Amino acid sequence: MSRGRFIALEGGEGAGKSTQARLLADALRLRGVEVVVTREPGGTPGAEAIRGLLLGLDGDGWNARAEALLFAAARSDHVERLILPAVERGAWVVCDRFVDSSRAYQGGGGGLSDAEIMELHRIGSHGLLPDLTLLIEVSPDVAAGRLAARDGDSADRIGGRPADFHARVAAAFDRFASADPARFARIDGDGTPEQTHTLVLAALDIGE
Ligand code: TYD
Repeated sequence: MSRGRFIALEGGEGAGKSTQARLLADALRLRGVEVVVTREPGGTPGAEAIRGLLLGLDGDGWNARAEALLFAAARSDHVERLILPAVERGAWVVCDRFVDSSRAYQGGGGGLSDAEIMELHRIGSHGLLPDLTLLIEVSPDVAAGRLAARDGDSADRIGGRPADFHARVAAAFDRFASADPARFARIDGDGTPEQTHTLVLAALDIGE
């Protein structure tokens, strides 16, 4: 049995990642591929429990380092119990966010160094990287409009941070994609879901 593929979707809030994950999974299934769609933080019972700790609105939240450790712990469980077994049996894993979100939010946005985030990832998840990371890029106005429609006033603890935090996150994603063009495909996410989906299929070289 040949190895499957591990595809991550990344981008800021309101980029449309989860819609694109769903559309991609449907397109792959039509081609007879086994697909596992998952998300971070989460994807296994233990990691979903950590998600509740990280994104819930009760309490004062976490300091930046505790937050980075919790994301790394959730990811470790997710990689070992769900992602690696699926890829090893030949499935495609489509994951809504992965370690580049920790690099962008806890690193670029939150103040840990990239080396520190990658060290946590090495310890937790053997440094596993996606085969391809689709960076869905949307202009700030488009993202704001989508978020207002989706969340109203009820953004989660991280999504609800101020605009300058999200600007640092976007700048960090931009740097990662420029530094590693072989692993990242930039996708223009300003269009309709179908238009973006067409760009995703082209990036994966699987056409309509
Ligand atoms: P989610 O509701 O999945 O948001 P979105 O639809 O925007 O992806 O919430 C995930 C939040 O967690 C989001 O604000 C990004 C943040 N996050 C991190 O800060 N670090 C991480 O490593 C991951 C995976 C997510």
